Amino acid sequence: MTLLWSRADLLAATSGHFPSTTPSDIAGTGVSIDTRTLRPGDVFIALQGERSNGHAHVRAALDAGAAAVIVHERCDIADPRILSVADTLVALQDMARFARARFAGRMVAVTGSVGKTSVKDMLRHALEACGPTHYAVASYNNHWGVPLTLARLPAGAAYCVCEIGMNHAGEILPLARMVRPDVAVVSTVASSHLGLMGSVDAIAREKAEIMRALPPGGTGIIPAGITGEDYFVLNAAGSGARLWRAGYDATCTVTVEVTRHDAQGSDLDIRLPGWHGQARINAPGRHMAANAMLALAAADACGADMTRAADGLATFRPGTGRGAITHVMHDSVALLDESYNASPASVRAALDLLGLVAAGRRVVVLGDMLELGTFAGHEHASLLPAVRENADTVFCCGPNMKILFDTLPSSLQGGWTPDSELMAPIVRASVRAGDTVMVKGSHGSRMDRIVAALRADTVQAGLA
Ligand SMILES: Nc1ncnc2c1ncn2[C@@H]1O[C@H](COP(=O)(O)OP(=O)(O)OP(=O)(O)O)[C@@H](O)[C@H]1O
Ligand SMILES: [Mg+2]
Repeated sequence: MTLLWSRADLLAATSGHFPSTTPSDIAGTGVSIDTRTLRPGDVFIALQGERSNGHAHVRAALDAGAAAVIVHERCDIADPRILSVADTLVALQDMARFARARFAGRMVAVTGSVGKTSVKDMLRHALEACGPTHYAVASYNNHWGVPLTLARLPAGAAYCVCEIGMNHAGEILPLARMVRPDVAVVSTVASSHLGLMGSVDAIAREKAEIMRALPPGGTGIIPAGITGEDYFVLNAAGSGARLWRAGYDATCTVTVEVTRHDAQGSDLDIRLPGWHGQARINAPGRHMAANAMLALAAADACGADMTRAADGLATFRPGTGRGAITHVMHDSVALLDESYNASPASVRAALDLLGLVAAGRRVVVLGDMLELGTFAGHEHASLLPAVRENADTVFCCGPNMKILFDTLPSSLQGGWTPDSELMAPIVRASVRAGDTVMVKGSHGSRMDRIVAALRADTVQAGLA
């Protein structure tokens, strides 16, 4: 296993102190902030969260074989592995900067309103085919997720892919400066988190901050025509970085032609500054093809072997609830499971995908989109044209989706319930052989209950 954190490096990174008895052979092979997933050899950092405090788990971390435990509260346990610092979150961030500084590979940061994790995971599949690649776990994209990814970065990796998120103004730049990307990719600008940001223009301005963390000669990559394109152009120019626009016409630096869409994915013909070739993305929909184009552009900007990168991309599969199509109810019904999350842009993308792949009746089941604040009513109602175009019957759950439901023509109204638990048996009873069903809603709307009901072998009462 790779040595990540020696005693000397921990001390140098954090300016903390060990008890004087500490042996000098600390060998941290990982970094953990949660004892439930801690592996022997991990450096455990006791973070103070909103709902939990890692300091309550110091004993558990030591017993589980932590190589070192970093604390800032007074601790009655005498153990040579305990490193005391002034603030554990700052220590994590200091470790992140230290690990970033000793990393000599190519660093990529991905941000955007939707599609960050998709692009990040596509890119890591592409880069893993070219050399040792480190990447953010899940959606680790916030004030602890980004530094945790960096603190786990092996110095000898060839590539690192970080995800950077935000829901408030001012969050992107400090995280991007910690990451110090050679390549910055923006997937989309859309109305996710509109409630806290106020306008799509403000969201574009915030996303464009990532370009300010690029070095001279670095590469920014954006989809051509992205909302607020000028902000990205200006900020990249301010850094002395080049900006690649990726799109479908010849004016773009990166162009893609989708030669075929099917229910499992798309075939692409891609022209990059350093490569022209074909690629396959095994995730269906125009939005996933667009994400794949950005991922391959980022691989090219990293100087990767693009034939290998394209082969690696083909091994990507969508995660649970993120757009995979499977067959349920004795293979009689196609299920497009989008239940993991929803925002206006991703619901439109999923509806577009449904229209693209459905052969029979198109059944749409939508749960509330959250974090839209005072814009919720408008944003839910604004889905009407996309729904009319791509659905034959629509089921809605939750108070916000009621707004959309009430505007639907009666021929499209399948039913409305206050929550997904009540909706699950209704949808299950309504679908017929040959239907394609798309289920989507914000994580908190628990649309996975509908998916579970459709997957169950037989109709069950009271599914939860
Ligand atoms: N380019 C895109 N345009 C529209 N929707 C997209 C795009 N890429 C992904 N999506 C959809 O958006 C949803 C979230 O995708 P993903 O997890 O990749 O985004 P994210 O930005 O990482 O989200 P989070 O903020 O939750 O981390 C999924 O339903 C996915 O299908
Ligand atoms: Mg994500």
